[in-house]
Amino acid sequence: MASGGRPGTRSSGQDAMDAEEETSVFVYDRRDGDYPEKKIQLGGIFKFESFKARIREVFELKNEEEFVIVTTNREEIKDTKTYDKLIEDGDTLYILNTADQELAAPTQERIDYLPHYDTLVKSGMYEYYASEGQNPLPYAFAELIDNALAATADNVGDRNIELRIILDDRIEGGKHCICVLDNGHGMTSKDLNDWAVYRLSKFNRKDRRRSTGYSGPGMRGRGGAAQSAPQVTVDTRTRAEPTAGESELGFWRPRSLNSEISYFGVGGKQAVFFIGTTTRMITKPKNSKDVHELVISQEDFEKKEKNKEKIYSGYIRNRKPGDTSHISSEEDHIRKIISEETGRENFTAVVVTNVNTVHLKFLKDYMKYWPKQLSHIYHYYLHGPQGNTAAAEGGKRARCDSPSQHIHIQIKLIQIKLIQMGRKEKIVDLRELEDDMQTQYIQKSADSFEFKATVEGTGIVEGILRYHPFLYDRETYPPDMYAPPVVEEDEDDCVSTDRPARGKRPIFECYWNGRLIPYTFVDDFEWCSPPKKRGVIPVECYNRISGCLFTNDKFQVSTNKLTFMDLEVRLKDKNTTYSMVKQGQEQRAKIDRQFFEWLKECHEKYDKQVKFCGFGGSITRPELASKKQQAPWAVFKSIEWDGKVFKEGQLVRTQRTVPIIYGTIQRFLLHGDYEGEVFATGGEMEIRQEPSSLYDEVKVLHLSKLDRSTTKLQAKKYIEEEEAK
Ligand SMILES: Nc1ncnc2c1ncn2[C@@H]1O[C@H](COP(=O)(O)OP(=O)(O)OP(=O)(O)O)[C@@H](O)[C@H]1O
Ligand SMILES: [Mg+2]
Repeated sequence: MASGGRPGTRSSGQDAMDAEEETSVFVYDRRDGDYPEKKIQLGGIFKFESFKARIREVFELKNEEEFVIVTTNREEIKDTKTYDKLIEDGDTLYILNTADQELAAPTQERIDYLPHYDTLVKSGMYEYYASEGQNPLPYAFAELIDNALAATADNVGDRNIELRIILDDRIEGGKHCICVLDNGHGMTSKDLNDWAVYRLSKFNRKDRRRSTGYSGPGMRGRGGAAQSAPQVTVDTRTRAEPTAGESELGFWRPRSLNSEISYFGVGGKQAVFFIGTTTRMITKPKNSKDVHELVISQEDFEKKEKNKEKIYSGYIRNRKPGDTSHISSEEDHIRKIISEETGRENFTAVVVTNVNTVHLKFLKDYMKYWPKQLSHIYHYYLHGPQGNTAAAEGGKRARCDSPSQHIHIQIKLIQIKLIQMGRKEKIVDLRELEDDMQTQYIQKSADSFEFKATVEGTGIVEGILRYHPFLYDRETYPPDMYAPPVVEEDEDDCVSTDRPARGKRPIFECYWNGRLIPYTFVDDFEWCSPPKKRGVIPVECYNRISGCLFTNDKFQVSTNKLTFMDLEVRLKDKNTTYSMVKQGQEQRAKIDRQFFEWLKECHEKYDKQVKFCGFGGSITRPELASKKQQAPWAVFKSIEWDGKVFKEGQLVRTQRTVPIIYGTIQRFLLHGDYEGEVFATGGEMEIRQEPSSLYDEVKVLHLSKLDRSTTKLQAKKYIEEEEAK
């Protein structure tokens, strides 16, 4: 039962006595008639006889009157042993003539159904478990970063967030520690109490005791997106009356970068228990003299359960900043964190210890990988609405005036070694990472196409498409960073896959309130998918586009923020309308047409393909291993490649072959059904190796092996020299 323990668990000590005093049961006399229940305090009653005497007294029963006392399960309490064993605090009991007598009237039995503490302890595990083959740890970190972003939304100056990972191998098992620090608004002790309540989101917290001076995320001054100069793509206030799920000022911001990513009241708790078993929340709100500290841990829950204490209760420690008197000297990492408090007006530190050891290896071994996942998630918070365009602008970090200027998310990895007592520290600033997935999409694109979707109701989705051209011998579409590594195939085959560039991947990644929802993708829309019939634009161009969708909280996401609930369905609803957006202005013309024109222009302007000329029929190549590959092959006399012509009989040199060879072009081959001139992105050349007096060999090589920089003169000179030898 919730408090006090069984009457039977008699122990000495004042605490135990206090708890005993509160213990009580509710008793109905149901021998005959319908009387209300009576509460019997069990404090100081240690024996069955005393209990029975107390009942007689409360119910005014005469000494000669016979009765039995039973539980609602009709187990009789007849001696001190059963009294100890069967009764728990808050139980309902009956007075009856016999244990199996019919109830003379109905009764009401009090029950509690507080969730088991596993609700908290195991929440993260179940929430992150289905992680599609990826290690979900970065997504747990993201929950803590979400909270820090929300808490710093109103900062006047910099918004500093640090993920500090201390891997300490000095003692067996290690005193590892993972901590997220921020200089946000902090929490009062009441807020800190609320933090611990599972599912108490800001929406159902609204009318509860509210305390801090801050007015909630969404209302901000300097540093907020509202005062940057956004590229306005829709009307500035698209949101109607605030409803549940919105703050009053939650109106439109570019890319929905509104910092409202503290949402369901679960993220922080799920994350910390996924990372480890003990969490110390340390926080100080502005204008407060005191620091508030709360520890919740699995061990503590277990202890409370064993002692029959209230599970969901504990103590907040209120203390002066920098006071480490309650922390043992072994916990030097926590002491260090506390010692940094002095002089800081407001902050929060989430300190997780007893880190699950399965995470340690991943953190060390994949240090190059998981920070990129985080900079992918927060790409637009870090770089602003236009994303990381720095390199595209000649490598200069010309960041736009946006909230991103103020957001600093740093990862500090500290490794402390046992043997040398050495200490290794590595700091990664997420904004400096140059190759997260979004940066790659942005920097490898030649052009972009912005649009807006208006979804029935009030939903607005901003969208952007980017074109990744074909350059000479390769697609420039960024490879999927998260895909399991593929076994290297013969390089010659690389361009002839049936769907190059994006492959079978979906086009769109999806952001919610400015942060990536990593497991939801949208394949495509009707207006940007390849036409059924072969058109003016080669079909492969449709596979050279990547895209991003940006929604606000009008679209629901799962509580683990890994998937959208119904984004695609709503986007594909027949009432959803799409329009192109150019320089901030919504265009009236039909989006299909606009997209088509854009794609055509991208193809003509940016794709560098090869023109095959002088068609000479089709052949079969039985020497090839795969049946599918053997036919048909179209034969051509010449090619035109980026302004240069290569033709039959011409001397050429190879590149990226071992050894480099020279040869005379025999013909060009292109897999597929063609008649006459064609632009293509692959193809092969058949060359007779020179000097032919030394070699008697014909070789077929992929066109990417053709060195286009060698002049005819150079080739001729080489052959003459070789022959002279
Ligand atoms: N770093 C922080 N600074 C200030 N307040 C915080 C911080 N972290 C958490 N809180 C407070 O604790 C509450 C609970 O956090 P938690 O992450 O568990 O849920 P949430 O952020 O409300 O919702 P979500 O499920 O989306 O994460 C937050 O709403 C916020 O009020
Ligand atoms: Mg949260």
